[in-house]
Formats: sequence, C-alpha cells, structure tokens
Amino acid sequence: MNRTIKILGIETSCDETSIAVLEDQKIISNVIATQDVHAEYGGVVPELASRAHLQNIIPVLNAALAQAKIKMEDIDAIGYTNGPGLMGALLVGSSFAKGLALGNAKPLIEVNHMKAHILAHFIEDNTSIPDFPFICLTVSGGHTQLVRLKDYYTFEIMGSTIDDAAGEAFDKAAKMLGLPYPGGPLIDKYAKEGDENAFIFNAGKLEKYNYSFSGLKTGILYFLRKEVAKDPDFIKKNLNNLCASIQKAILDSLFYQLERLVEDTGIKRVAVAGGVSANSGLRKRLAEKKDWETYIPKFEYCTDNGAMIAISAYFDFIKDKQGKLSAIPNPRMKI
Ligand code: KG4
Ligand code: ZN
Repeated sequence: MNRTIKILGIETSCDETSIAVLEDQKIISNVIATQDVHAEYGGVVPELASRAHLQNIIPVLNAALAQAKIKMEDIDAIGYTNGPGLMGALLVGSSFAKGLALGNAKPLIEVNHMKAHILAHFIEDNTSIPDFPFICLTVSGGHTQLVRLKDYYTFEIMGSTIDDAAGEAFDKAAKMLGLPYPGGPLIDKYAKEGDENAFIFNAGKLEKYNYSFSGLKTGILYFLRKEVAKDPDFIKKNLNNLCASIQKAILDSLFYQLERLVEDTGIKRVAVAGGVSANSGLRKRLAEKKDWETYIPKFEYCTDNGAMIAISAYFDFIKDKQGKLSAIPNPRMKI
C-alpha cells in the first residue's frame, strides 16, 4: 500500500475519554478528556465514569478530527478499546465506535487495552522505538505484567500480579495518607523531597515473575495506625518521607522480578508501559541500567490515551484483521 493509512482510535476503558487520529505510525491528534469527578470519592466510580464518557465523547471526537484537519470520510478504520476495563465505560466507547463505523461505512477494529499500552512504543514520535524481542513491564492502575514480545502480534505473559496492580498500590497508599485520587502522581511528587530509607515497607517477593502488593497495603495501614495513635500529625509531619519510602517499596518489587527476567532470558531490551511508567523514580532507576536498552513512551502515551488504541488498530488493519459489529466488550480481557 503506497497511500497513508488513517486510523481513528477510541479509548473509554476507565476514566479518560480519548480519541486520536493516526496517519501510518504518526499521531496527528490525541485528545484526552480527564474526568475530575472521581477525585472526591478516592477512586473511579464506574457509574460516573460511564456518564462522563457519554458527555465527553462527541466533543472529544470533534476536537480530534478538527486538530487533525480531517473528516470522518478520510478515515480508513476505527479502532476502539474492547477490554479490559469497566463494563459501563467500555460499552460507551464500543457502542459509539459501532455507530460511527456503521454510519460512515468504515471497518471496525477491536483493541485490547493492555496490548495497546505496549504497542504505544511504536508511535513514531517516541524518542526511540524497540526492536524485537523485548520485555515490557506494563504497570497501570488495573494491571501489572511482565510481557515478552516476539513481534507486533505475539505477546507472552511471563509474570503478573496476583492481587493489586502497582498503580492501585500507589493509589491505595495515597488514600491512606489522605491524598486525593489518583494518588500515584502525588506520591511521586512528594517522594522527590523525601528520604526513601526513612521507613521500611516491603512488597512480598513471589515466585518468578509474579507480583503481590496487598501485603504492602496492609503493612502501611498498620504502621500508620500505630504512629497516628501516638501522634495525630504523624502523616502531615512525615508526608515526604512516607511517600519516598512507599515508592521505594513498590519500585523495589517491580525491579526485583524485572531484573530476574532480564537475567534469565538474556533479553536486555526493556520497555515500560502504562500509567505508572510516568513515575519519575521508576524512570530514574531505568536510566541507571546502563547495560540495558530502555524504552519509555512519551508521557502522553503512557497514561490512557486514544493514540495507543489507534496504533494497535493500525497493526491489525495492515494484516486485514477486522472486528465484528456483534463484538461484546470484555472487562476481564487478557493479553
Ligand atoms: O494506565 P493508566 O492511565 O490507567 C489504567 O489503565 O489503569 O494508569 C493509571 C495509574 C493510576 O494508578 C495512577 O496513580 C498511576 O497510573 N500513575 C502513577 C503516576 N502517574 C500515574 N503512579 C505513580 N507515579 C506517577 N507519576
Ligand atoms: Zn491503561
């Protein structure tokens, strides 16, 4: 094919309504409407997320098309997140994508959100793009996985969390510290001013190459209870040190399994994906791995976005893989 391929990518799996336009592997617009409504509840409220997607989705589409200076008729295919995610949220995006595809006679492509986080590495304006094979640590609010990629289509799960995801661990710890949702970025911010060795927290060390963060959560809870009983201002007085120590525990755990996997497979090309890859401590540790080739997508492609959905749909489109109008979103879709 000589002409360029234009794909529309629609993401509504959680609390960002996002639509992007991709031209071959280049993003020409990537509009993201973040839902602030969840902050006061300390976590994403599924019902509110669905409503906000319904409110946002048409303005987000119009903005994405306008920024790309493109009309629906110029689009070759529509990709949308079909799972994993919140069912109500997924239903908004999938129903919208189906209506759009039907109304404009365009092919529809179902996208796996977790694969999309990884395939975001292949968007052209990233600083560097990995060769195959590579290992990807996918760390988001809903998932924590170590995946080995042989090509754009072959994903092998090498390890995953048996309970909470890394992002969830950040958010739950933040909630215990009285920080609003999502707490991950705030822990990151305060950790920069703190001493990571001030307090000792630990996430469990499991068999190769799995993760567990629920013990860490309980450990933090009991520790805080004990200290706050002695001094009600304990958290306020120690916020930076607490954040730094919690972040260290999560990163120690993430890197423990990642390092073992790199050693065992001999694959030194390491990528990270998902919202937690925005974490500055994680980025610093990765940068210190001088004998690895490391890859982190641009910041806007790390957290949930339509661009990663569009690039994933692109790889299916060039292989003539198309979705079905009868497809049903799967909230627990696996890689
Ligand atoms: O990939 P994502 O945007 O949504 C999901 O698919 O879950 O990831 C969101 C998660 C949240 O848990 C959020 O707290 C976390 O990523 N996160 C961070 C940072 N930025 C986002 N965690 C730690 N440090 C950050 N800078
Ligand atoms: Zn995500």
